[in-house]
Amino acid sequence: MLSALAAAGILTASGVLVSSGAPAPSSLNGVPAAHLQALQKGINLSHWWAQTGKNGFDLDRQLSFITPHDANLIQEMGFTHVRFTLNARMLWNEDDPAEIPATQLVLYRKHVEWFTKRNIAVVVDCHPEDEFKKELETSPEALDKFTAWWGSLAKSLKDFPPRLVFFEILNEPVIQGPEKWRAMQGKVLQAIRRAAPRHTIIVTADRWSGIDDLLKVKPYSSKNVIYTFHCYDPFLFTHQGATWGWDATKDVKGIPYPTSVAAYREHAAKIENPQIRGYVEDLGRQAWDFDRVKSNLKRAADWGTQNKVPLYLGEFGTYRAYSPPDSRATWIKHTRLAATELGIGWAMWDYCGGFGVVNGDAGKRTPDALTAEALLGDL
Ligand code: BGC
Repeated sequence: MLSALAAAGILTASGVLVSSGAPAPSSLNGVPAAHLQALQKGINLSHWWAQTGKNGFDLDRQLSFITPHDANLIQEMGFTHVRFTLNARMLWNEDDPAEIPATQLVLYRKHVEWFTKRNIAVVVDCHPEDEFKKELETSPEALDKFTAWWGSLAKSLKDFPPRLVFFEILNEPVIQGPEKWRAMQGKVLQAIRRAAPRHTIIVTADRWSGIDDLLKVKPYSSKNVIYTFHCYDPFLFTHQGATWGWDATKDVKGIPYPTSVAAYREHAAKIENPQIRGYVEDLGRQAWDFDRVKSNLKRAADWGTQNKVPLYLGEFGTYRAYSPPDSRATWIKHTRLAATELGIGWAMWDYCGGFGVVNGDAGKRTPDALTAEALLGDL
């Protein structure tokens, strides 16, 4: 394992962790500095307690997909936290959502503990399927149930130190309307605050938690709250070949980063659909490079400064299947470097899924050298 990390440039030959060079954060909006420190470098633990295709508890998967081997690897790679995606339906009791099924809860707590006992913080990220969000949007009763569920979950986890466990109310709400979503999220925020008064709560904008959505957010008066956003810009590059999200991406493969007219000319010429060809040409003209990545993220950072609240880049990443590996690594490096320079903690999407930082099967995963170096190598 150590040699794998050394090969990936994450550990020096003497086994010393390479420093990220990030400035130490100071406390903001009532969020203690140690909490912001814990959120500096993270990885999304996906497809384990969420996105399993089953939309509910699946004991075999919960027991085998991620193992203590992965917790060790995540620690050795130098991540300070995991964003642990949790489909609410995994811990759901429709008759009384405040009564979380005990067996599932015990197992979930155990998995959280795999990380906290290694001094790795856990963002409990509520990450249900879209049907759940649709119900929340259309039924006040569903929102009441969700609020009760969150209150109960926070109560069940509040014995974990606030430095090591964070509560993120809802991943990419999809729900449209800043005011409407603000009121909905505010209800849940209060329920969590009552249940776990010292824990940091992570909130987000409506829709897909993009930077443009964040800029429209009116912050809550509650303290000890962090504002999260996601960034996959430019989307056509980061999601090339993807069959979800936006139709255009599935016909675009192998396009490089940084983007330029010259680098994109031959790629655009191969695309038959004129509209999609136009998108590719545009992306070349936009000339995405480190400066553009940073000025894009700076829009969020400026909003945080104006509102005196801390930010968290909870997702960024590039789909591996069709992106040129060197371009993907460069984009990852630029994005985490820009976030770090702007004082924003981050978590890459994801650990071992389609956007992953490791290779191999459960129980024997190893770092993907190029991705791990881009994400965690010396700055
Ligand atoms: C979604 C994933 C998706 C990723 C990148 C996440 O928020 O939950 O399903 O793969 O974004 O598109």
